[in-house]
Amino acid sequence: MSVTFRRVSEKDLKKLNEIVNDSEVCRYLSLIPPVSMSSTKKAFERFRKAGDLWYCIMVDGAVAGAVLLKTTPKGLKNSHVASVGIDIDKPYWGKGVGGQALEFIIKKAGEKGVKRLEIEYMEGNTRAEKLYTRIGFIHEGRRKKAIKAGSKYYDSITMYMWLR
Ligand SMILES: CC(C)(COP(=O)(O)OP(=O)(O)OC[C@H]1O[C@@H](n2cnc3c(N)ncnc32)[C@H](O)[C@@H]1OP(=O)(O)O)[C@@H](O)C(=O)NCCC(=O)NCCS
Repeated sequence: MSVTFRRVSEKDLKKLNEIVNDSEVCRYLSLIPPVSMSSTKKAFERFRKAGDLWYCIMVDGAVAGAVLLKTTPKGLKNSHVASVGIDIDKPYWGKGVGGQALEFIIKKAGEKGVKRLEIEYMEGNTRAEKLYTRIGFIHEGRRKKAIKAGSKYYDSITMYMWLR
């Protein structure tokens, strides 16, 4: 299985939109399904303007998900801080693809001069918790009831990594 990465372009948005509209993929994301194509396009524009790095995760040449490095504008006291978001299509779960995508984006973050890298997951997302811990993220805190899914509130667990 070959895992590669390329910057997201407009032609990838349809597939990326399909992936986040899968109920199991979306379950632990902040997005609320159905996610419209226009909101996916708006996100693409927003990331582009902000200089965020959004990559397609390609498995054997097919788009299998995306990984995002959300940066902080230059010239601020927290410009060294960035955060990571990731989503992978269900057929590719549990095969180490997420691990490779995080290693890739951590390297990109280092090249961009990021020092503090943040990642969050919703309580109950044990797959994400295991992966982030294995990769070297450190548990930091818990944002109580920060997520509302349906009529219920859930905690968001925060992790970070310091890049040398
Ligand atoms: C979370 C996600 C990115 C993980 O990607 P992945 O390719 O499955 O990750 P990996 O295969 O590299 O690692 C998955 C880990 O979950 C573990 N795992 C596998 N099946 C599992 C299960 N049923 N329950 C809990 N953990 C499981 C694996 O053993 C592995 O743990 P390890 O790193 O300790 O070996 C992916 O599942 C995904 O996109 N989920 C939907 C969206 C999402 O939750 N995004 C993250 C939001 S914070």
